[in-house]
Amino acid sequence: MRSDPAMAARTTARLARAGCVAAPDEAADLTAAAPTPAVLETWLRRREAGEPLAWIVGQVRFCGHVLAIDPGVYVPRFQTEDLARRAASLLPSRGRALDLCTGAGAVAVHLQRAVPSAAVIGVERDLVAAGCAGGNGVTVVIDDLGASIGVVGAGGMFDVVTAVAPYVPTDALHLLPRDTLRYEPRAALDGGADGLDVIRRVIARAGEVLRPGGWLLIEVGGDQDRPVAPLLRAAGFGEVAAHRDGEGDLRFVAARADGYRKRQHDASLWPGDPLR
Ligand SMILES: C[S@@+](CC[C@H](N)C(=O)[O-])C[C@H]1O[C@@H](n2cnc3c(N)ncnc32)[C@H](O)[C@@H]1O
Repeated sequence: MRSDPAMAARTTARLARAGCVAAPDEAADLTAAAPTPAVLETWLRRREAGEPLAWIVGQVRFCGHVLAIDPGVYVPRFQTEDLARRAASLLPSRGRALDLCTGAGAVAVHLQRAVPSAAVIGVERDLVAAGCAGGNGVTVVIDDLGASIGVVGAGGMFDVVTAVAPYVPTDALHLLPRDTLRYEPRAALDGGADGLDVIRRVIARAGEVLRPGGWLLIEVGGDQDRPVAPLLRAAGFGEVAAHRDGEGDLRFVAARADGYRKRQHDASLWPGDPLR
């Protein structure tokens, strides 16, 4: 729908009063996507009530890609874009990537478009999110952290594993923006008592499916690199590095699957070695 300056000003003012931090941008998005003034009014009321913009207009941008987002599905955040770009830079052509907890498939879509010759699989256990990822062109396994994905021999088959798993400690959920808590699925956010319930399982799973030298990238927040780094090292990962954004906020941890696979490989070569 075309907007005139008066309509843009009114829409922006209503969104600003409702607490939207990017009111002018959101007003422009809503107006551009609404087919009629009546629909715009309905959408504005939903947005004023706190519903995610992406659910209302049905899409979001991530790493420059336009993704369809269905109501009920976690909305990909721009804060995850660095992880997606770094993962794409580590994925060889004709390589294989596994995006655990894929949600709407944002990271998987970026990996697939950045490295078209690679095979990229998303894993998601929520049916609505999995359907959304499928609609975004992701090959999705509906599963608990890829439990049904087989491991062949001693070496895993994936070059890169990514995971934007739930990682907010249960006690800290109330610190999230009110609308996030009210609308977005708790199963996408709640990481258990210390926030690391799913991340611990991601590390174990990645250790099984990564090839030696393959990379795991996990989104974390706060100062979760402190507990996560020793978990990774204990699982045999090396080159553990925390990545921060321009403001110094922790965004993700990356690690290389070295020792874990090597130990498994050695064990399979010499299962009865008396010296071990
Ligand atoms: C924080 S959202 C991230 C979604 C997506 N990666 C993104 O960045 O937009 C976490 C997602 O993990 C899914 N999830 C949580 N536990 C899971 C599990 N055990 N196995 C598979 N998916 C899981 C949730 O349903 C949710 O869609």
